[in-house]
Amino acid sequence: MIKGMILGALSLIVGGVIVAALVIKLGYAPANADAKPSWLEKTIAKTALRAVINRQAPKTPNPETLNDKNLIEGIEIYAQNCAVCHGASDGQPSHIALGLYQRPPQLAKDGVEDDPPGHTFWKVFHGIRMTGMPSFAHTLTSEQIWKVSLFLQNMKSLTPQAQKAWARVRSETLPDED
Ligand code: HEC
Repeated sequence: MIKGMILGALSLIVGGVIVAALVIKLGYAPANADAKPSWLEKTIAKTALRAVINRQAPKTPNPETLNDKNLIEGIEIYAQNCAVCHGASDGQPSHIALGLYQRPPQLAKDGVEDDPPGHTFWKVFHGIRMTGMPSFAHTLTSEQIWKVSLFLQNMKSLTPQAQKAWARVRSETLPDED
């Protein structure tokens, strides 16, 4: 009886794997970017990301002091590395942003001011797997990542000098705008 149940369960698993492999091999598994992620895909990805970040993200406050110089450096880093996907100060998405799967949030409108700074640091350092969000671990220093995180944290309450620098980052200055 138990042997029969085990055999039944095993053939179900093997059958499932064969069907899944066939679905993929025959081209029925979606691999395109011009679609919306399904509810299941979103739930799995979001749950995994949240759990890893809770485990790994630094719990410390942002080590960079809140002042004009650091905010403006953060804005410059953002303009060069992030605005192409996350938008400029006018919140207009670029062609690249509109074509990505997952869609990158346009941070001027849909910001991350409420996120703990360590969470933003983690996302920029490690990137987010299976989305367009790159890891900057090998291209920006930790200090630069904290500075861009400082800017994102304070985007809605910038100092007047930093606000001027941010207002100069506009979508028409990005590479692929008409
Ligand atoms: C090539 C496109 C691309 C570039 C360049 C890029 N990102 Fe992202 N980013 C994404 C995408 C796509 C997501 C959404 C991932 C998801 O849905 O989980 C994302 C997510 C994020 C998030 C999480 C947003 C939220 O609402 O939780 C932050 C913060 C972020 N990026 C910051 C940055 C910073 C800072 C830079 C530059 C140093 C940058 N990104 C560069 C595509 C990009």
